[in-house]
Amino acid sequence: MTDTSATPVVLPVLRGGMVGMGMIFDETYAPFFETAEEGIYDAAVGAYRVELTGAATRTGDRAKAYCERRGLAGFGNHSGDNAVGDLLASGIDFLCVASPDDKHFEAARLGIEAGRHVIIEKPSVLSLDELDELTALAKAKGVLAKVVYHKLLDPDHKKLRTLVEDGVLSHVNNGYCTLLEPKSISGQQFAAWITGRNPGTYVAVHYLKLIDFTFGGRLKSVSCTGQRGLVGPQDGPTWDSTQLRLVYEYESGREAAFDIHTSWVTPDNFPGYVEQEVQFRFDNGVWNGHSRKRGVELTVEDRTPNELKTTINNHYNGTFLEPWGERSRRGYGIEVIERFAREVAYVELGGAAGQRADRLAEMASRNYNDLSADRQVVAAVQAMESILARHAAGEPNGIVEVNGRAGGLALYLPGKSEPEMLYQGTV
Ligand SMILES: NC(=O)c1ccc[n+]([C@@H]2O[C@H](COP(=O)([O-])OP(=O)(O)OC[C@H]3O[C@@H](n4cnc5c(N)ncnc54)[C@H](O)[C@@H]3O)[C@@H](O)[C@H]2O)c1
Repeated sequence: MTDTSATPVVLPVLRGGMVGMGMIFDETYAPFFETAEEGIYDAAVGAYRVELTGAATRTGDRAKAYCERRGLAGFGNHSGDNAVGDLLASGIDFLCVASPDDKHFEAARLGIEAGRHVIIEKPSVLSLDELDELTALAKAKGVLAKVVYHKLLDPDHKKLRTLVEDGVLSHVNNGYCTLLEPKSISGQQFAAWITGRNPGTYVAVHYLKLIDFTFGGRLKSVSCTGQRGLVGPQDGPTWDSTQLRLVYEYESGREAAFDIHTSWVTPDNFPGYVEQEVQFRFDNGVWNGHSRKRGVELTVEDRTPNELKTTINNHYNGTFLEPWGERSRRGYGIEVIERFAREVAYVELGGAAGQRADRLAEMASRNYNDLSADRQVVAAVQAMESILARHAAGEPNGIVEVNGRAGGLALYLPGKSEPEMLYQGTV
């Protein structure tokens, strides 16, 4: 017989803090924390709980509403100029940075500087100088610095990579990816911070990482153009849509080119809602992926396609009634955050203090999410942003050479013989 009078086990707790509590918090971080507070088990670590302890946001309004809805007592709701500092001072173990992309660097820097593990939403940062600073700081402080690219955990993309790794698909020659967001994203959701931004940095970056992580290789050049006039003035710095091209070279010396088209001005009633398509052509095959052809198409009178989606992605972040009666929310968008928490737990709780450095090195070597493995993606983002900024200033059609004749990142503009150096070191 089991002794049921035994004292309940008190589990170790990892405490997390959020910077930004917007759309992506609602979709992935909130369901992660709400499940993880009940406990996670890992064979190498044992059982532990993860708690959301506080947040740093612009106004504090959404954090307040979230706390009230969940009845969270003692939650630290920080806003104002020193919000991130106040959150860090409250004694968290890890920081999740999910503020607008041009605010990632400073929050992540403060977190790492304070000796906390940090995870940043994609795109991690907007320049290689920023990336260098964060990776060096993380090393010096002995913490993990990671980035979220949930598409790498999409079962379809895992299958693609498996076929490439196993040599079933050989040498990628070229491909295209498109991701189209509805107008409500640029017009309402992001209206507060959209000026000067572009949909390439926001979503093409998912495919930059997919291509970089899946096919490897060396990034050689980046070019980009785009359109304006809907989200902002036609001669302004805010972009409706972008078309980005990357050229890679592989160990064999052969090249591949990839085109990535993105927009955030697609009509809201477009049945794809968020429409995603990829095609990669290999020496011996073709991979086609289409978000609307995953198999489900739902119509509900007066509710689809706005309130309910017509083509639902049940793999990313779905709410379900499980066959055993429980309600759940799960998918790869949530799993990717849990992976990070497991990595932190492995470092902090996974064995003797004397071996922490080995555990840290093991987790930092996971190049699907470590910041140190994000160099070519950040290089492409920085190149794209610089080309678009020049375009908006009246100098379109630039091209950036990566580790070429002039050095790390060199922006060549038509009619000018000398490049503008965006990054001097090797990418
Ligand atoms: N993984 C994905 O697929 C995915 C999807 C959407 C967004 N994102 C990323 O998540 C981040 C946030 O996007 P979102 O959709 O949640 O945006 P959002 O506009 O819905 O929310 C932004 C949040 O950041 C806060 N904020 C703004 N400025 C701040 C500052 N200076 N300091 C602290 N907080 C600040 C706001 O208060 C708000 O809570 C972006 O980097 C975006 O690229 C990722």
